[in-house]
Amino acid sequence: MKDLFVTCPHGFEALLQKELISLGISQVSPRFCGVLIPESIENVFTVNYESRIATRVLWPIAEFPCSGRDDLYKHCRSISWDYFLHCNKTFAIDSNVQHPTLTNSLFAAMVVKDAICDFFRDTTGSRPSIDKEHPEVQLNLFIQKGYATLYLDTSGAPLHKRGWRTAHTEASLHESLAAALLLHTGYSREKTFCDPFCGSGTFLIEAAWIATNTPPGILRKKWGFFQFPDFDKKFWEQWKAERNSKCLPLDKKMFFGSDKSRETTETCKKNLIKAGLLGIDISYDEIAYYHPPQKIDLLVTNPPYGKRLETSSTLFDQLQHFLTENLQENGSAYFLCPEDLVLENTQTELSFKNGGLPVKLLSFTDQEQVQ
Ligand SMILES: C[S@@+](CC[C@H](N)C(=O)[O-])C[C@H]1O[C@@H](n2cnc3c(N)ncnc32)[C@H](O)[C@@H]1O
Repeated sequence: MKDLFVTCPHGFEALLQKELISLGISQVSPRFCGVLIPESIENVFTVNYESRIATRVLWPIAEFPCSGRDDLYKHCRSISWDYFLHCNKTFAIDSNVQHPTLTNSLFAAMVVKDAICDFFRDTTGSRPSIDKEHPEVQLNLFIQKGYATLYLDTSGAPLHKRGWRTAHTEASLHESLAAALLLHTGYSREKTFCDPFCGSGTFLIEAAWIATNTPPGILRKKWGFFQFPDFDKKFWEQWKAERNSKCLPLDKKMFFGSDKSRETTETCKKNLIKAGLLGIDISYDEIAYYHPPQKIDLLVTNPPYGKRLETSSTLFDQLQHFLTENLQENGSAYFLCPEDLVLENTQTELSFKNGGLPVKLLSFTDQEQVQ
């Protein structure tokens, strides 16, 4: 039996491994930018529908030694593509290639595309079309250490696209990153949670979905595995209904958010409605004037990254003051910041890249509580 490759951003492999074990998946082996799990349709359903951290679930369809262009073409031409694709379906190929002679990933993807089109032309007289934006069948090619692996992408659109965003807002976090950070902090439903720079509400929604045991795929309409030749829609609907029956009611008094932008708070409220989270308290306030209705057990936030350090340090002073006033005794607070920001009373929990920028998750230590 081969393994499925579940991808995630680098730095989150161990968290993903822990999450997949908690979802009941055994034999989970971490790799660079993902984890391997046993190949089965149940695992495809579970990770695509229930993982808050995973980006994609890739199903291996071929693995072979690859010495160069001709080898790649020959192996890809010999695959029975009519099992995975049809002339009337669109497809696309993503590639990630490290090879001494195949130095261009786009070229390697083109070789695979040619092999697939030649297979169909030779066997049927016509060929499937490419659609780079919304392909029905997405393939992934990896070449490393002289070996090529071709995967079928069972997710389709990446899994951070949950379906609750109603409009674009500036600097919003990927949903899966927000969820991963929340899981890292040990967030659980009995904690009051606050984000005073809530923006579109990513942390609030992901926290409330964890609290209500809502599957992160609940609003998605489509996955790549719908295109599998033996996809059983009835079994999938039954499987989903059983999982959905485990959702818990929302305790709306446990969540508070605020932002100084009127427009953003309006979008946040619409996002909460789309996510099925009615009644969560969202204020339109500067952090300096914001007072949540209750003391907070956990704060996780992504403050604006000030270009000038003076701006940021005033803001962080205000944030630290906010915590002194509003954080519960034994409460905890975490901020996502640029890697080079130095703040007193904090310690680095995680370092990683967000949108190509080096960032870190800091935890705040209340000095009064320490003394
Ligand atoms: C990096 S964004 C947060 C994005 C959010 N995590 C999301 O995923 O949508 C920072 C937010 O802080 C808000 N903001 C900036 N200065 C503020 C202040 N002094 N008080 C409250 N909110 C502020 C901005 O309007 C912006 O929405």
